[in-house]
Amino acid sequence: MAPQAYVQPVCDSTSIFKDDIFKGKVVFCTGGGSGICKGMTEALMRHGADAAIFGRKLDRLTQTAKELSDATKRTCIATQGDVRQPESLKDAVQKTVEKFGRIDFVICGAAGNFLAPISGLSENAFKTVMEIDTIGSYNTVKATLPHVRSSRGSYIFVSATLHYNATPYQAHVSAAKAGIDALSQVLAIEEGPHGIRSNVISPGPIGNTEGMDRLSNKSVPGSGWISGGPVGRIGDIKDVANATLFLFSDAASFITGQVLPVDGGWEHLRTTQLPYPQAVLDPDSVGKMIKARM
Ligand code: HXC
Repeated sequence: MAPQAYVQPVCDSTSIFKDDIFKGKVVFCTGGGSGICKGMTEALMRHGADAAIFGRKLDRLTQTAKELSDATKRTCIATQGDVRQPESLKDAVQKTVEKFGRIDFVICGAAGNFLAPISGLSENAFKTVMEIDTIGSYNTVKATLPHVRSSRGSYIFVSATLHYNATPYQAHVSAAKAGIDALSQVLAIEEGPHGIRSNVISPGPIGNTEGMDRLSNKSVPGSGWISGGPVGRIGDIKDVANATLFLFSDAASFITGQVLPVDGGWEHLRTTQLPYPQAVLDPDSVGKMIKARM
């Protein structure tokens, strides 16, 4: 019988990072009402930060802000708007600074996605995702930069791994995320002398998120995710949250302009020709399989 692949456990940040490493710090997070960005915000609050979450749906934002405040004993406020509307971001930033007096960390996480082939994408559909993801991230930087300069703070952009190798039905998102990677890198070098760092986190397949549910469309071949991969599982929101804690912490003070995939090594597997993980765990069976095909 072939040996079983090892499964890396999900790590709870409280066992690694001190409770108060972000005490006195304030995070502004777009897309923080749900999913990965909510998890990133919660992790920062669990380690002492206060937060403002920004999004389109006030009901959901208000509920999330209360949930996070209750769970962490820190303060989270809901700020409503649309990253496509710069004025709404400026208002939200002003409310955040009125409430907390500062902004140290910014997470540019608001994103839009759906599966569609290029032949089926309208001009407006392509433009909509570019406007939410790429231009929305730029608008967020513009609205927050003076405050982040004052605090010598740090940015994290939420990108993806799907544009490293061509992903069908994702031309719009791939173009948008590539733009985000470039925006962060230029921000890092331009704003470094002002004390600002800027990095990208690129989540791979992360389970239990609305975004992943939307993409796991069984009618589109290959769009359903399976468990496995080099660490033996798909990702958890905590995996992205832990990377966030590290990148915003002083332990990452020499890291800027970087793109960090948090994908359990999945992206590397996309190019392998051999069955995985059998090829590693049971090489004899793979040899026999290859010979049988010749
Ligand atoms: C083709 C579609 C479509 C679909 C919308 N459109 N859904 N085209 N297939 N499934 C088209 C519409 O027909 C319209 O074009 C244009 O896109 C704009 O759509 P609207 O609904 O008018 O826009 P809006 O209300 O602003 O909605 C934005 C949205 C929507 C992105 C289209 O899906 C949305 O708000 N989603 C919620 C947020 C979200 O998706 N989060 C996921 C993040 S996860 P026409 O020509 O008809 O006017 C994520 C992960 C990425 O990003 C990495 C994964 C690995």
